[in-house]
Amino acid sequence: MTTLGTPLSAHATKVMLLGSGELGKEVLIALQRLGVETIAVDRYDNAPGQQVAHHARTITMSDPAQLKALIEAERPHLVVPEIEAIATPMLQALEAAGTVRVIPTARAARLTMDREGIRRLAAETLGLPTSPYRFCDSLAELQAAIDAGIGYPCIVKPVMSSSGKGQSKIDGPADVQKAWDYAMAGGRVGPGRVIVEGFIDFDYEITQLTVRALSAGGQVETHFCDPIGHVQVSGDYVESWQPHPMTPAALQKSRDIAKAVTDNLGVGLDGQPSGLGLFGVELFVKGDQVWFSEVSPRPHDTGMVTMITQWQNEFELHARAILGLPVSTALKSPGASAVIYGGVDAHGVVFDGVEEALRIPNTELRLFGKPESFVKRRMGVALAFDADVEKARVTAKLAAGKVRPREA
Ligand SMILES: Nc1ncnc2c1ncn2[C@@H]1O[C@H](COP(=O)(O)OP(=O)(O)OP(=O)(O)O)[C@@H](O)[C@H]1O
Ligand SMILES: [Mg+2]
Repeated sequence: MTTLGTPLSAHATKVMLLGSGELGKEVLIALQRLGVETIAVDRYDNAPGQQVAHHARTITMSDPAQLKALIEAERPHLVVPEIEAIATPMLQALEAAGTVRVIPTARAARLTMDREGIRRLAAETLGLPTSPYRFCDSLAELQAAIDAGIGYPCIVKPVMSSSGKGQSKIDGPADVQKAWDYAMAGGRVGPGRVIVEGFIDFDYEITQLTVRALSAGGQVETHFCDPIGHVQVSGDYVESWQPHPMTPAALQKSRDIAKAVTDNLGVGLDGQPSGLGLFGVELFVKGDQVWFSEVSPRPHDTGMVTMITQWQNEFELHARAILGLPVSTALKSPGASAVIYGGVDAHGVVFDGVEEALRIPNTELRLFGKPESFVKRRMGVALAFDADVEKARVTAKLAAGKVRPREA
């Protein structure tokens, strides 16, 4: 049984978010609604989630010393990683010392921050279907891996990167050098390792949101949301919708893969299946064939659509699950999301067209409140619902297009 406290009192239930962007902001709002005392951490001041939390802290989360000092000073009941670029070995040490509980587990945070950790687990330990892959530390190794069987086309990604950074497709020998250079410039921790993956010619890709939550009897149970379809441009999501139609066989395979991965990532230090929370399992689908791509042990950007499609959106599901509370993944209505990009490099932008967007029936907007806009930075999202998911996609894109950030 979960007992919740009163925020800002001696009996507060305290949760610290490591990463307070648009996804963290929604988790924080869900926690606030349950009277949880929240600490929003980010690498810069006035991050979206810091604007809605009880406490805001700005540190370099990839610095183990800074991370340790902050966690020891704040003593939260739970630490919730919301981004990948965190000193996860330090989280593992703090979890092992009993200082804090990490969501879902420190091991899951560590394995998924690095494409190598999660890919080897999925393909080699769990035997799940993935694209063919090799890890390479030099241009020569990359060329050799392609020649030895990966073939063309293929995709090169730095092992430490997200949102498509440093990632490119190689169509033939002429592209290899360029892809290597691009990966070296785009990785999170300077020059390093890449993964080269055979290109999967999928019909569509989905995110299978998967929730590990406690049952009435205190056992971990796995719940699945309806599949989310999405479109990625240069490795970054631009629109998503739910539900995405699937054959029964493909749906079953997707859920079997999601269950296998999340069961493994949910195993805690003590060997018990104690890891709770929501995961975004990314899958490629062709006919009845399904490949595992990657997994976030936290809410997923394509899952923002659930803010309009589910009774409990992915952020509320995460908040409930980590607190040991019951969840429901029931769909409220089919719907869609479309990303609003900054379109300009500027501080303190203003948004034209918000009224026109919201005049379109069945729409909602989220403007994230990021202090600085970049041309390709995600500044907001438009949401739409409709009994017909294809109509919802059109409406969401229409609404997103009405919103125009500009320099003040
Ligand atoms: N092997 C592959 N075959 C075909 N398409 C791929 C392959 N790998 C990646 N992609 C495409 O590129 C997109 C981004 O890849 P991936 O998810 O690995 O990168 P990412 O940087 O982690 O992105 P994000 O952080 O946005 O999830 C995928 O959603 C898919 O559309
Ligand atoms: Mg991805």
